Amino acid sequence: MTYQPGSEQQQHGPLEGLEQWEEFVKVRYPEEGAPVEAAAKLPEAFRDYRAEARPSVKEFYRLNHANQSLDFVLAKKREYLPLRKRRMSIWTAMEFLNTLVDDSDPDTDLSQIEHLLQTAEAIRRDGHPRWFILTGLIHDLGKILCLFGEPQWAVVGDTFPVGCAYSDRVVFPEYFASNPDAAVAEYQSPCGIYSETCGLEQVHLSWGHDEYLYQVVKHYLPEEALYMVRYHSFYAAHKEAAYGHLMSEHDREMFHWVRGFNPYDLYSKGEDRPDVPALTPFYRELIDEFFPAELAW
Ligand SMILES: [Fe+2]
Ligand SMILES: [Fe+2]
Repeated sequence: MTYQPGSEQQQHGPLEGLEQWEEFVKVRYPEEGAPVEAAAKLPEAFRDYRAEARPSVKEFYRLNHANQSLDFVLAKKREYLPLRKRRMSIWTAMEFLNTLVDDSDPDTDLSQIEHLLQTAEAIRRDGHPRWFILTGLIHDLGKILCLFGEPQWAVVGDTFPVGCAYSDRVVFPEYFASNPDAAVAEYQSPCGIYSETCGLEQVHLSWGHDEYLYQVVKHYLPEEALYMVRYHSFYAAHKEAAYGHLMSEHDREMFHWVRGFNPYDLYSKGEDRPDVPALTPFYRELIDEFFPAELAW
């Protein structure tokens, strides 16, 4: 799909918008201490997230788990990681992402730029360092994969390792039965094609916006920020402690930062619309402090 400035781009997939996946994750992992609805008052282990998920979300996970095979991930890495799609600044990428049109209500729902600013502003309010604020601002820019024509299930969704056994701590694990890798014996041992404690750098996760953006920004941000970008959707690991056997000691230390970032990602999206023109000078200066005028995407 070629991008026409100002054109409306529809998303391919069952979700009305990418936010539907994030709303589901928020139900699955409610904020500690937050007021919960009656249905959510049961201990977390007894809550049936399947019953709470909308049909569109279930269909989204069915497609994601059925299609994210090792071969698919390797093919997407070959396609995207030479980073030859376009050259643009971080700010232009934000404006580009903003052209993504959801089926949800544009009058009440926040735009993509407003979402990014909300995350960054929540981090800024808590007095975190400038690189952390910047990470909040950019962490979802990989979602421009949608604008390159990728289906929703290849852009968002909780990520998981491919080429080794699936953990039942990944949501809707039953849908993995229709993944072609489920029939490959070599991939179904706990380590599969990897070795114990090899480190996540060696491990291929399901393809999506985390890995893509990590590859775009990896030369410009501190390592803590890069872990946040690369693994923020790896809920089975950072929320459920699955796949520890593939992680190195260093991964374990760095995941402290991934967990520290997660509340800003999930729970900073309030009703207040950020004042985009008023915030623009601060964020343009912050972007220029870390990034060159153009990056390869
Ligand atoms: Fe994300
Ligand atoms: Fe996010």
